[in-house]
Amino acid sequence: MTDDRAAALAAIAEQVRDCTLCRLYEGTTNGVPGAGSPQAEIMFIGEGPGFHEDKQGLPFVGRSGDYLNYLLDKIGLKREQVFIANVVKHRPPDNRDPLPDEILACKPYLDRQIEIINPLVIATLGRFSMARYFPNGKITQIHGQPKFQDSRAYIPLFHPAAVLRNPELRRGMEADFHRIIEVLAQVKQQRAGSSPPLAAAAAEPPPDDEPPAKLTQLKLF
Ligand code: URA
Repeated sequence: MTDDRAAALAAIAEQVRDCTLCRLYEGTTNGVPGAGSPQAEIMFIGEGPGFHEDKQGLPFVGRSGDYLNYLLDKIGLKREQVFIANVVKHRPPDNRDPLPDEILACKPYLDRQIEIINPLVIATLGRFSMARYFPNGKITQIHGQPKFQDSRAYIPLFHPAAVLRNPELRRGMEADFHRIIEVLAQVKQQRAGSSPPLAAAAAEPPPDDEPPAKLTQLKLF
């Protein structure tokens, strides 16, 4: 089963690398299909590859990735335990926003990745992945508030780059990350058939410590 999932994800990755369904592949170095565990319980969905991701063919390996690693570490997770993907899988030129037709062209790849991994929790990073599940949501109002649907939780989070740009969001982002673990436990209970209807649990505020100095000094993109 595990091998089947890995093989199915590898097949998608191959298709992504060769993909010419929209203009985004032009001028890129690598497609960035996504990376992580085929059995991940938690899947993160970002926006699209940036400069470093394009060079390495891997998601979230630049400054946003450093911050994402820091946040995962705070909740006791390693990248290898989760799956990280993006809404578009080639880098938009100059890191511009992905266009609707580009998101649509890439959608079958992401849909299929979700179907194969079947994560218990999908955490969206930023507005483009949020829009898949919270079409009218405003991130400042709904971040950290899970939606439970079809034995899965969807939790909208700020994009790490937005938090790096605006350190005032840091505390909320860390609280939202702790919330992921609570939400995961709720979904597991529900899937085991032993819990009352899923309800939003109170978010634990994170310990008031500082991120590594290098993160506070980061310049974006
Ligand atoms: N930002 C994203 O949304 N995705 C990445 O992979 C890197 C930066």
